Amino acid sequence: MYVYQDLGFRVTEKRDLNALKEIHNDQDVWENLFNIDFVDDNSQDAWWNSLHRKRDDLRYVICLKDNPEQVVGRLRIQSINQQHNNCEVGLDLHRDYRGKGFGSKSYEMLLKFLFEEYNMNMVYLKVADFNPRAKEVYKKVGFKETGRYPKFFFRKNKYWDYIIMSITREEYLA
Ligand SMILES: CC(C)(COP(=O)(O)OP(=O)(O)OC[C@H]1O[C@@H](n2cnc3c(N)ncnc32)[C@H](O)[C@@H]1OP(=O)(O)O)[C@@H](O)C(=O)NCCC(=O)NCCS
Repeated sequence: MYVYQDLGFRVTEKRDLNALKEIHNDQDVWENLFNIDFVDDNSQDAWWNSLHRKRDDLRYVICLKDNPEQVVGRLRIQSINQQHNNCEVGLDLHRDYRGKGFGSKSYEMLLKFLFEEYNMNMVYLKVADFNPRAKEVYKKVGFKETGRYPKFFFRKNKYWDYIIMSITREEYLA
């Protein structure tokens, strides 16, 4: 487990699958995903079995330092490029933990891990233009908008820009 203040993240275990399914099927979560794939037990099992074959796509559980069994959210580190030292990230919190600062703290934890332990040089993410809360969190922890796919994302009966935000090691250390 990697610990940061009162939070941590750890490997995903089979016993987490129900909590992760609940997070995935929450409308505030799936509406931010590019593909709408509601998850049932079968698809969750298939995802679980495929997880261990991927070396460039890591999925962790965000938990409380003093109660690691408690699933606070899910975290992904994907498209990991070990030659150029960059990766894409994303995370979603269980609804009970939103709006309490855990999102910003989780990103601080993730960036500390990626820059100070995992030797990344640049970290990026994508966010739909209809998610002001997420954009606020990303700006707060140091991400900057570095591009956008215009009208890329269809939700709520219209097309939205998909915003690319990134942070370099230099910016993180400054
Ligand atoms: C997005 C998410 C990770 C943010 O985490 P969180 O713990 O809820 O956010 P925090 O409490 O750390 O911070 C939210 C910040 O956004 C601000 N905020 C909330 N709603 C806002 C809005 N509509 N417009 C602008 N800012 C807003 C808050 O004031 C707060 O800023 P502050 O700390 O300066 O007051 C979490 O809400 C979540 O998992 N949501 C559901 C799924 C999702 O949107 N995932 C991201 C996909 S890209």
